[in-house]
Amino acid sequence: MEYVIGVDLGTSGTKTVLFDRNGQTVAASTVEYPLYQPFNGWAEQEPEDWVNAAFTTIRDVLEKSQVNPADIAGLSLSGQMHGLVLVDDQGKALGRSIIWCDNRTIESCEEFTRLVGGREELIRISANPALTGFTAGKVLWTREHLPEVWAKARRIQLPKDYVRLRLTGEYFMEMSDASGTNLLDVPHRCWSKEIAERTGIPMSLLPPLLESCDVAGTISAEAAKLTGLCEGMPVIAGAGDNMAAAIGTGVVEKGKAFTTIGTSGVVFAHSDTVQIDPQGRVHTFCAAVPGCYTVMSASLAAGLSLKWCRDRFFQAEIQVAEEMGTDSYVLMNKEADKSPIGANRLIYLPYLMGERSPLLDPEARGAFIGLSAMHTRQDIVRSVMEGVMYSQWQNLNVLRGMHVAPETMLACGGGAKSPFWRQMMADMYNMPVATLQNTEGPALGAAILAGVGAKLYPDIPTACHQLLKVSEPVLPNAERHAKYEKFFDLYQKLYPALKDSYHELANID
Ligand code: XUL
Repeated sequence: MEYVIGVDLGTSGTKTVLFDRNGQTVAASTVEYPLYQPFNGWAEQEPEDWVNAAFTTIRDVLEKSQVNPADIAGLSLSGQMHGLVLVDDQGKALGRSIIWCDNRTIESCEEFTRLVGGREELIRISANPALTGFTAGKVLWTREHLPEVWAKARRIQLPKDYVRLRLTGEYFMEMSDASGTNLLDVPHRCWSKEIAERTGIPMSLLPPLLESCDVAGTISAEAAKLTGLCEGMPVIAGAGDNMAAAIGTGVVEKGKAFTTIGTSGVVFAHSDTVQIDPQGRVHTFCAAVPGCYTVMSASLAAGLSLKWCRDRFFQAEIQVAEEMGTDSYVLMNKEADKSPIGANRLIYLPYLMGERSPLLDPEARGAFIGLSAMHTRQDIVRSVMEGVMYSQWQNLNVLRGMHVAPETMLACGGGAKSPFWRQMMADMYNMPVATLQNTEGPALGAAILAGVGAKLYPDIPTACHQLLKVSEPVLPNAERHAKYEKFFDLYQKLYPALKDSYHELANID
């Protein structure tokens, strides 16, 4: 058995990677799918798109690699977290999934918190407050607004669990992703009967729980026909994308952390014990490492801010990049580098999708503060990159205050490809920032879980030490840190000053 497969079910698409037992990529394939936003603040996806993307990309990596499917030890999945998939008695999804970046459930979250017995009680049990991105608010919203769908629901699944169900025919959830539902007793790693009873969510909707490297069934005859995999091949439970990324980056021991600049921004640290922020500004989840925990922040528009900036202001770069066969973001980085630290006194607030960590305010919105007629596109793009990084820095400081102070930092996600952004991260955090040679993050994490579940590796830390190679870190510069600090101090004062205006704006008819 020489190979493992990691399927990474993301928001813009699903990427499947076939790895050899040394963690080297043999073949990769990605299929994209739409995000539906029928109203301001809503975000939905079609579960059937996820299934088709997973099946297509699995077929594709088998074809590209010409690997004998009998030589594949197992497959596992990493998935965008929190999305609600309600499944009927035939095992089929009941319509579109309300996904992680949807903000429609403000009232349902308030109702959920009230039913559980208040915010403090909810944080005591589920380690997190009810957030619009999390699953429980979506459950209550559906119960109230779509009673015909609710009446047919037999199980709750998260995105990657639904794809796994279609691969194996078996219902499961695993600890790391289940931690983002608000329905799990996170410190005790079990469904909370108290929460289910108080909120009237039937326990029968909640599937059995596994740890991330447990076997969650095998490839069914039907899935074998559709994917080309061998019937009976083990499928391992997998993890929420951030917890899978932690495995794929070796953040599996105390003191280790990563920052992801993907669509969302995440600052993530491993902890051997459960640590909870009483204010709920950052999330406490079960780690994919059995028995361990993670503390992480989620800012909703990190890479998304830069993409927004590119699509609105950098059409020329998109065109030139296409002609030159290069990446438009590389050209944008060059522009940003022409503007000084502080972007000529322009500060960007990256709250395009409302904000989770550390604000917990779905009604917050983006802003440019200090915009002047002298500002150029170079200042705009620099300020966007700086604003996204200020938000990560603010979250890192919350973690630093919670006994999970990271000693090492890895940069991950699309943003980590940019040396400019990595240097900015090192200068702001005032710590060395490294990257990994294999940048598959969540897909590699899923594949390592598959390898551990299929007994190719003895355990997760051993597999990580064996397979992952860290690059030379970028070092911080004290002078630049001091310059950034002045703008960061002001950045932190801006949301509190604008908070009331955001709420007033959101409530204008
Ligand atoms: C984490 C979160 C996002 C999603 C999307 O709480 O909402 O990171 O998992 O990838």
